[in-house]
Order: sequence, then C-alpha cells, then structure tokens
Amino acid sequence: MLVSAKQMMADAVKGKYAVGAFNINNLEWTKAILLTAQENNSPVMLGVSEGAGKYMGGFKTVVGMVKGMIEELNITVPVSVHLDHGSYEGAKKAMEAGFTSVMFDGSKYGIDENVEKTKEIIAIAEAQGITVEAEVGAIGGEEDGVVGTGEMADPQECKMIADLGVTMLAAGIGNIHGKYPANWTGLNFDILAKIKELTGDMPLVLHGGTGIPVDMIKEAISLGVAKINVNTECQLSFTAAVRKYIEDGKDLEGKGYDPRKLLAPGFEAIKATVKEKMEIFGSIDKA
Ligand code: G3H
Ligand code: ZN
Repeated sequence: MLVSAKQMMADAVKGKYAVGAFNINNLEWTKAILLTAQENNSPVMLGVSEGAGKYMGGFKTVVGMVKGMIEELNITVPVSVHLDHGSYEGAKKAMEAGFTSVMFDGSKYGIDENVEKTKEIIAIAEAQGITVEAEVGAIGGEEDGVVGTGEMADPQECKMIADLGVTMLAAGIGNIHGKYPANWTGLNFDILAKIKELTGDMPLVLHGGTGIPVDMIKEAISLGVAKINVNTECQLSFTAAVRKYIEDGKDLEGKGYDPRKLLAPGFEAIKATVKEKMEIFGSIDKA
C-alpha cells in the first residue's frame, strides 16, 4: 500500500519504535526491501537520492517500479516512496512524479533561507497529501554527492523548522553518512533530548544509520527518533555476497553467469540486513 509517511510516523512516535528508511538503487534493492517489509509486517520507507533516481531512469520510473511491485507482489504493508536529501528543485520534481514523501535538505543554507524554502515545499506538499522531512544542522560525511559538514543542530532552529509544519525533522547530532571512523565520539544525546523537549511529538529522523551501536539506536528511539535511514549497510552486505559468489567461482558453473543468479546472493543479503534493522528498530508487526 503506497502511502505518505504521516500515519506511520505518528504511530511510530506513539509506539516508541522507528520505521526504517532504506535507500534503493535498482530493482533488486526495491524488491528485497518490499518483500522483507511484507514478510515481517513492518511499515517501510524507500529512500531515493537524486543520484539514485537518475540512475534508475528518473523519478517517474522509480514511482512506476514501486507501484508495479506493490501491486504484483501483493505488498499490503504501508510503503512510502521518499526523496532522500532532496534539493529544492528535486523535491518539486519528485512530488510531480508521484513521490508520497520528500526530504528537502536545506542544511547547506543559512537558517532563514532554510526556513523560507522549507515553507514553500510544505505548501506544495500539503496540497497533495505528501509528507515533508526537513534538516537542521548537518549530517557528516558524504552520500551520493551530498556532502555535510557534521555541524551539530541548534535545538532552537529545530523548533523553528518544526513549527513550520514539517512531518519529520532530521537533526545533525554527531551522525555521519557511510562508515563511522574509529575515533567517532557517538551521538550527542543531550542535544537530541533538548530537541525533543522543544519539538514535542515531532517525529525525529536519524540519518547515517549504518554502524550505529544498538544501544545508541535504542536510546535515540526513546528520545523521539521515529525514522532511521540506512543506506551503506545494504550496499556492504550486497557487495560482500556477490563478491563471495564470484570468488567461489559460481559464475563459472553452469549458467552461473545469468545476472539473476549472480545478483541473487546480494538480494538475499539485503533482505537479511533489512530484517535485522527492522528487529532493532522495533517496527516488526507494526504495519
Ligand atoms: O540518507 C540516508 C542515510 O542517512 C543513510 O546513511 O549510508 O550511513 O546508512 P548510511
Ligand atoms: Zn542521510
């Protein structure tokens, strides 16, 4: 069932769990995530970066693929197709193409410009029942060409953006895209607690979900995180599984070179990673 993120976010805040937003890159990724959500009776969000959207042919192709799979694979759990780290123009294009949720990442702007642009995106989205995620502070590292400074979010600025009527709010609290460096000092729970205090029941979003220790994930959820983004971890597990298939020489046996066979271990690896995350996030049986 293709929906916006509104109800699933409200339910997650109330139930004190988080919905996983897993980035997709192609058919295998999309199918693996949708089937895992259905098998585990979990709501799910499919994150689409602008780069991945382009790679898959464009936003309309993505929406067509997701809609087709939801129908033909009988996916009845709530699914949002969500633009990840969208630009202002990208968010508008994604909405036109049928995305049910968009992130407008205005973190590279000063707070006043972030507020203005977020407001404009909300006005367009609201009229169509599309949900909006905004960002304050910045996520460290790089994802698909989007580079973040890692600047810690200012809780007052978070309140300003939350008060605009966004559906969910991403805040930089020491989280980083990609693998965490060995000297990473962890998430800043004092800031997260302050943001929660000022924004009430606003669903908070934790980006950079790859490699965050389970106890930190649980603490973040207890402080209002209702959506957790995971990208790199699926890429790592997919690639390791496909690498093993080739290193074991399976591509040289029989019709092992058939792409459907070659990519099957990667597909299964994504399913296992997504299931593990859903268990940690507490979203299983919450559809
Ligand atoms: O927006 C997507 C993410 O924040 C994913 O981060 O690649 O570190 O899991 P990750
Ligand atoms: Zn992110």
